[in-house]
Amino acid sequence: MRYRGGWDIQTAMMKDAEKIKNLLNRKLLAWYRRNQRSLPWRETSDPYRIWISEIMLQQTQVDTVIPYYHRFLKTFPNVNALARTPLQDVLKAWENLGYYSRARNLHAAAKVVVEKFGGKIPDTLEEIKSLPGIGEYSAGAILSIAYGKAFPAVDGNVRRILCRLFAIRKPVNDTREQKQLQQLAASLVPLKHPGDFNQALMDLGATICKAKNPDCARCPVADICQARIKNLQNVLPIIKKTPVIPHRQTTAAVIRNSKGLLLIVQRPASGLLASLWKLPGGFVNSGENMERSLRQSVKEELGISIQAEKHLASVNHIYTHFRITLQAYECRLMKGTSKPLGCQNWQWASSADLKKLPLSKIDRMLLEMIF
Ligand code: ADE
Repeated sequence: MRYRGGWDIQTAMMKDAEKIKNLLNRKLLAWYRRNQRSLPWRETSDPYRIWISEIMLQQTQVDTVIPYYHRFLKTFPNVNALARTPLQDVLKAWENLGYYSRARNLHAAAKVVVEKFGGKIPDTLEEIKSLPGIGEYSAGAILSIAYGKAFPAVDGNVRRILCRLFAIRKPVNDTREQKQLQQLAASLVPLKHPGDFNQALMDLGATICKAKNPDCARCPVADICQARIKNLQNVLPIIKKTPVIPHRQTTAAVIRNSKGLLLIVQRPASGLLASLWKLPGGFVNSGENMERSLRQSVKEELGISIQAEKHLASVNHIYTHFRITLQAYECRLMKGTSKPLGCQNWQWASSADLKKLPLSKIDRMLLEMIF
């Protein structure tokens, strides 16, 4: 059964499954042995270190992760050290790496590992997926790399490779197809060296089978790749169009006291960038006047009245589901004493305090611009 010149996923799973599986394994592993990227988490078999690397590598490029990985492990060399450190210090070590829920989950998971699993990172799918921040992908990556268990680790790169290898023409960003691709990947992972197999796919996706202009001439599996054979390598995978992400405006008040200290607030314990510190302010409703919105946000956050006096800077940033423009204003405190109404906490901060506290990337960028 062919699907417009390609195979559908079920057919791909059945058709010559064993033959393709064996060829893919042999070729991919041989290539990996000679061409694997030299990466610090590949020099260890410590499940804790592998776990940290996999969490950092969610949504973040290898080159960005490497210095964080080294620093993090120097500060928190084992799961006990991580579990007994206050969350604020873990967030600080994560600062600028983004997606801070990863750090909060890592910290919460470390406590579970110590309390429930006697300090050992679990080695079964069910137990490891019960930890905060560990989904199907990270579970598969950790179990295969750290414990040699035959689970797949399927991310966007691996889905792209599978769509090309089997000339699958269904939209790769469709949830149903993704479930099927997960099953297809599971049917391909070998019992021997599953971690190398998964990492070989990762390296193939990063260096050869790239999203644009795949380098088929250097590909170790080009001769069994259905997309390559049908000259579809630049057409696949098919990506269903998704709506453009919304753009939101947000404000920040720069308020100093007579000693030159800066008024900062700690975000609530849940929600976007939870527990990080920032300047007072908040989102602007569409059509709302910026300065009025800022006065209102600060009133709700701290119960004080302020006056915006001068526009200082504007910074852009992109999150997963929206992008924001942060507008900062120099402000004067008109009336009231700060109370933590819409925030966890507040304080007057020196520049030394600001260096120590965890802030999001956009807030850090803003502070660097205005100091
Ligand atoms: N991305 C996620 N996990 C990885 C790994 N172990 N090696 C390289 N890139 C990765």
